[in-house]
Amino acid sequence: MDVLLGLQWGDEGKGKIVDVLSPEYKIIARFQGGPNAGHSLEFGDFKHVLHSIPSGIFRENTINVIGNGVVLDPVIFMNEVSKIKDIKAEALDRLYLSRKVHLILPTHKILDAASEAAKGKTKIGSTLKGIGPTYMDKTGRNGLRIGDILEDNFMERYNFLKNKHFEILKQYDFKFDLREQEEEWFRGIETIKQFKTVDAAYYINNALDNNEKVLAEGAQGTLLDIEFGSYPFVTSSNTISAGANTGLGVPPRKTGDVLGIFKSYCTRVGSGPFPTELFDEDGKYLQNKGHEFGATTGRERRCGWLDMPALKYSVMINGVTKLIMTKADVLSGMKKFKVATAYKINGEITTEVPYEFNENLEPVYTEFEGWDDDLTKTTSYDKLPAALKNYIEFIEKETGVPVWIVSVGPDRGETIFRNK
Ligand code: GDP
Ligand code: IMO
Ligand code: MG
Repeated sequence: MDVLLGLQWGDEGKGKIVDVLSPEYKIIARFQGGPNAGHSLEFGDFKHVLHSIPSGIFRENTINVIGNGVVLDPVIFMNEVSKIKDIKAEALDRLYLSRKVHLILPTHKILDAASEAAKGKTKIGSTLKGIGPTYMDKTGRNGLRIGDILEDNFMERYNFLKNKHFEILKQYDFKFDLREQEEEWFRGIETIKQFKTVDAAYYINNALDNNEKVLAEGAQGTLLDIEFGSYPFVTSSNTISAGANTGLGVPPRKTGDVLGIFKSYCTRVGSGPFPTELFDEDGKYLQNKGHEFGATTGRERRCGWLDMPALKYSVMINGVTKLIMTKADVLSGMKKFKVATAYKINGEITTEVPYEFNENLEPVYTEFEGWDDDLTKTTSYDKLPAALKNYIEFIEKETGVPVWIVSVGPDRGETIFRNK
């Protein structure tokens, strides 16, 4: 099993690259996160954003699995299914759900919103999809799973959990109206019932034992990992490669390549530290040229330079074997650009990510020469501008990992493989 995951704060282009690589794999499996994700695919005039469904869904021969580590909102899932039905209904025959997937209840979303409102200035900047509260109920052993839907006591358990949420909500001064949301939610449950459920651990391990290729698709990014990200400004799941093992039931020794994806610069949505963040014209340039607006919430993405200590940290934690650089085309037209190669903290230089990622941390930059060429029609690595190749080779030297793919545009076709 190979794993593809983000090395930054999400939105590195995971959806695009999974779609590109899907024909090489029998199964694409999401292993964590939920509809806080927004994975964009583009080919020709076709543009689509996926939230819960794996990004191999539009490829003819690929089975797509939503694994146990994922949390699913029945309403968002129902809407995703309905859109895909209009585009390519038969694709849905290749979508399987793990019975162990936890359900996001309407009250989880309300709890998310109430918690964020109460935090005021210190809010996480959550996508408000109910992710945190759902994982809290999972680890608190209160959650409801897809496999529970067909049990006789499903309604009883739903009401029990809902009432528990009502009790918690009394602590907040937060108004809500559940009726409409609940109705939709139960329609979503009916949609889930129409899908094939599997014991994903057996299903994926059996496929691997039969030499079928499996790609685990990450959501969010390493710096949003619950353990190793910029806590507390993180999401509530393990976004790192180890998360693919727990999120699918596949043992570590069956992990093959770990494909680490990063943008040629950095972005972040929501609150939290971002050492290389730009507040100037360069930041605006990256935002406009890279269309840096959230695929899930439409929020502006904060933009900044590539952060090498953070990238090396992500490479280490995930055991990345191949790197994928996206949005190389967005840097085109910049005379010069920068990369943080170290941090200065209270006068001391370090290349390690510190415990506290805060305003005391000053990036130390190395400047690079830019290029003017439009890269989007380039099809071979050799034809890329020397300045970009120089940048890529610098990244390879710093991380000790080869850059395998360079993405030069949002379209499937705008993808350059090296050594292939
Ligand atoms: P994900 O969450 O990691 O799947 O990434 P998103 O889909 O949220 O955000 C990535 C955005 O960049 C999407 O709009 C993609 O269509 C777009 N994109 C992906 N790769 C490239 C690239 O190489 N160049 C440009 N210009 N856009 C890209
Ligand atoms: P993809 O898979 C970018 C961010 C939110 C917020 C924090 C916690 O498209 O890369 P949550 O909703 O999980 O409680 O939010 O994490 N976040 C993402 N940022 N891309 C994502 O997913 C994200 N999923 C969550 O903005 O700061
Ligand atoms: Mg995204």
